[in-house]
Amino acid sequence: MINYEKFFSLNAKGMKKSEIRELLKLTNKPGIISFAGGLPAPDLFPVEEIKELTQYVLEKEGRKALQYGETEGVYSLREQLVKLLKEDGIDIPIEQLIVTTSSQQGLDLIGKIFVDHGDIIMTGNPTYLGAIQAFNAYGAKMKGVELDNNGMNTELLDREIKKSIDIGKKPKFIYVIPDFQNPSGITMNLERRKKIIEIAEKYDLIILEDSPYRQLRFEGEAEPPLISLNSERVISIYTFSKILLPGFRLGWMAGPDELIQKVIIAKQATDLCSPPFNQYILAEFIKRGLLKKQISKIISAYREKKDFMLDKLQKYMPKLESLTWTTPEGGLFLWVTLPKYMDITEMFEQAVKRNVAYVVGTAFYPNEGGNNSCRLNFSYASIEQIDEGIKRFGELVREWNK
Ligand SMILES: Cc1ncc(COP(=O)(O)O)c(C=O)c1O
Repeated sequence: MINYEKFFSLNAKGMKKSEIRELLKLTNKPGIISFAGGLPAPDLFPVEEIKELTQYVLEKEGRKALQYGETEGVYSLREQLVKLLKEDGIDIPIEQLIVTTSSQQGLDLIGKIFVDHGDIIMTGNPTYLGAIQAFNAYGAKMKGVELDNNGMNTELLDREIKKSIDIGKKPKFIYVIPDFQNPSGITMNLERRKKIIEIAEKYDLIILEDSPYRQLRFEGEAEPPLISLNSERVISIYTFSKILLPGFRLGWMAGPDELIQKVIIAKQATDLCSPPFNQYILAEFIKRGLLKKQISKIISAYREKKDFMLDKLQKYMPKLESLTWTTPEGGLFLWVTLPKYMDITEMFEQAVKRNVAYVVGTAFYPNEGGNNSCRLNFSYASIEQIDEGIKRFGELVREWNK
């Protein structure tokens, strides 16, 4: 028997099989009502439009679209993305924008260019599971900072950064998801946004703003993106996965010139370029105004599902003071906090037996925590499934409360 372990790099040795991913596999069982994944509603995918545009691109630019493309991305798509950002108050030249193979690659490339073994990254507590995995792969240590209903607690953030600096471990960057955060659904208010920028300036740090859900606002007023408040210290990553479709695996990243140039070099070694064919289709999709239409279609469907889920939580959950949930103004998720004596992971097995699934809170805590919380996705399940699924979840919580 060959011992393969000895061949692995230091990075690979640090990569552990995620128990959470194993748990998530259970949520794929047939017949289950899943609030677990972060999947968009497939019935809203613009299949007909994509079909027509695929034909159009093949006929008009087939030879270019099927060829390798530039690492930075197809120019016509980047032009559209620059315009899109401009509408959101972000003024960035095209050279400072790169197309990525969705935002997960953006996270990986950021890990690649910034992280040395043992480096500290400041994140939310909770934060996106995939970001923890991406940064862990480069040997990073995450330091989670608690959130409240207005986003990351900036006093704590300041204190924790200072503590790290005092022991000679200055963090590399601050990772935030300011809009409809995954997993909590919480949006950072303006005061906190400004404060985070101030902290980054004070300690000379970079901020990574992950924005997959920003365009999916159902109600309320949008706060300015961090990159519009400070274009020298913020790198922002975006994706088409939630606002259009994840199957194209396309996203983009904007930030300071020198950093984007480094990301381009790092990406060359990763995949040379993101699929040009998909990029040509998307460029035309946006040019024809179809993305805007698609986003408003998604917003109304998800708003309805979110309201419905909130309604059903109210209806089926026992009335307990320490049982709460967030009321997001957009995005894909809401976050349920149960009384401290209920262990969400222990309950999970029972939930799956009853054919309903969620993601346990611990998945999103880089250090510890989340034992009595879980994330519910409201975009994927149908209205009927939401009704039945929340009913089953409510019954489970009632039983565990006895
Ligand atoms: C905060 C956040 N970042 C990044 C991603 C990665 O998505 P994708 O690679 O499909 O763009 C997700 C997916 O759920 C996410 O929630």
